[in-house]
Amino acid sequence: MRMAIVWGSTTGNTEVAAEKLHAILGDKVEVCCNVDDLSADDMLGFDVVLIGASTWDIGELQYDWPPRVTEMSERDWSKVTFGFFGCGDAHHYDDTFVDAFGIIWEQIEPKGAKLIGRWPVEGYEFSDSRSLCNDRQQFLGLPLDDDNEAELTDQRIEAWAEQIQRELAELSPSV
Ligand SMILES: Cc1cc2nc3c(=O)[nH]c(=O)nc-3n(C[C@H](O)[C@H](O)[C@H](O)COP(=O)(O)O)c2cc1C
Repeated sequence: MRMAIVWGSTTGNTEVAAEKLHAILGDKVEVCCNVDDLSADDMLGFDVVLIGASTWDIGELQYDWPPRVTEMSERDWSKVTFGFFGCGDAHHYDDTFVDAFGIIWEQIEPKGAKLIGRWPVEGYEFSDSRSLCNDRQQFLGLPLDDDNEAELTDQRIEAWAEQIQRELAELSPSV
């Protein structure tokens, strides 16, 4: 199974999270890089792509992502499983909290992409997000909030890494 972590990060928070995730997943991860360095066609060569994307400008994608997401919207993702993680700020941007996951997912879900790593909303104080699913009970991926609760980041990443490995093992028992 080929796995990549690809991130975009303006102040480095999501980049650090990507590195922590990489350290936990170890050699299961073949590539961990900035989104500028992995094209949509490159992503098609992986079974699993973990996307690290923060949210900026009140409900907009972090600046590295838009050209890549446009490219991704034009590919067939039926053989690729995605997971989302990324930083936001639930206090100052409480109604666009981690919108980035939803913005990307809306482009690739219609192209057959599969998703692992949905995450419960319990424990987060926010009013709205484009990244909600399952009757607003879950986020599409793992929200991290280094601006307000950085002390929870490491344990959230560790728990999410365990969860996605479990989900991948269920999808493909040989992994
Ligand atoms: C001008 C500005 C707009 C922001 N807009 C949002 C937003 O809409 N939703 C959100 O969850 N976080 C928002 N944030 C918070 C950032 O996503 C947060 O600081 C994050 O840690 C940045 O991660 P990065 O360094 O990986 O890019 C915003 C921050 C700034 C300064």
